[in-house]
Amino acid sequence: MPQCARAAEPNEFMPDDYFRRHSGEDIFGNNQPLEIDLGCGDGTFLLKMAQHYPERNFLGIERLLGRVRGVCRGIGKLGLTNAKVLRLESHYTIEWLLARGSVSRLHLLCPDPWPKARHHKRRIVQQPFLESLHNVLTPDGEFLFKTDHPEYFEWVCEEMQAFKKFHRLPWPEDGEEGALFYPKTDFQQHWESQGKTVHRLRYNMG
Ligand SMILES: C[S@@+](CC[C@H](N)C(=O)[O-])C[C@H]1O[C@@H](n2cnc3c(N)ncnc32)[C@H](O)[C@@H]1O
Repeated sequence: MPQCARAAEPNEFMPDDYFRRHSGEDIFGNNQPLEIDLGCGDGTFLLKMAQHYPERNFLGIERLLGRVRGVCRGIGKLGLTNAKVLRLESHYTIEWLLARGSVSRLHLLCPDPWPKARHHKRRIVQQPFLESLHNVLTPDGEFLFKTDHPEYFEWVCEEMQAFKKFHRLPWPEDGEEGALFYPKTDFQQHWESQGKTVHRLRYNMG
C-alpha cells in the first residue's frame, strides 16, 4: 500500500515506491521518449509541448500542490495522455527517482536565481546536480536552460564548464534553420513583458 496521505489527482504520477528508480515506461506505460520539465510551475510550457509532440512523453516536476493540481486539470481538459505531473523535490527526482539513461531532454526554465550571495548555495545548478543530470540523460540527451538573470546565466556557464562532460549546442532563433518548437513559459512571458531579456543554454553530452 502506498504510504501517502492523499489520493493522486487524475494525471498525477504518484509512485508506489519513492525509493526506486522509474523509467518512462513505468510512468507512462510506453516507450516514447521522456522529457522532464523541472519546476514546471503553471504548466504553460508542458501542456503546449505535450500537445505539439504526441509521440513524446512529458513529466512536470513541481513541489507546490496547488500548481500540481492546476497542471493536472489542464492535462485533463486537453485530453492529453502523454503528460503527467510528479509532486516532488527537483534534485531528489533526478538523483533518486528517475532511471539512469531514461531522459531524452530535461528542461530547466526560469528557476529561482537566488540572487543574494548568501543564498547561492540554494541554486539548483551545481556540480552534484550536474552529475545526477548526466546520469539520467540518454546518450544523445539534452539539457535546456533559461533564465532572465544575467549573473545566474554566467554561474550556469561556469558550472557547466567546470563539470566538463557536457558540450554546448547552438540554439537557433525562431525562423532560423534548426529552430526548436519551444513555447515560452509563464515566467518568460512575465519577464519579457517587463523588458527583460531571457538567456538560454542548450547542451548535450558531446
Ligand atoms: C520561478 S518558477 C518557474 C516556473 C516555470 N518553469 C516557468 O518558467 O514559468 C519555479 C517553479 O519551480 C518550483 N520549484 C522550485 N524549487 C523546486 C524544487 N526544489 N523542487 C520542485 N519544484 C521546485 C516552484 O514551485 C515554481 O513553480
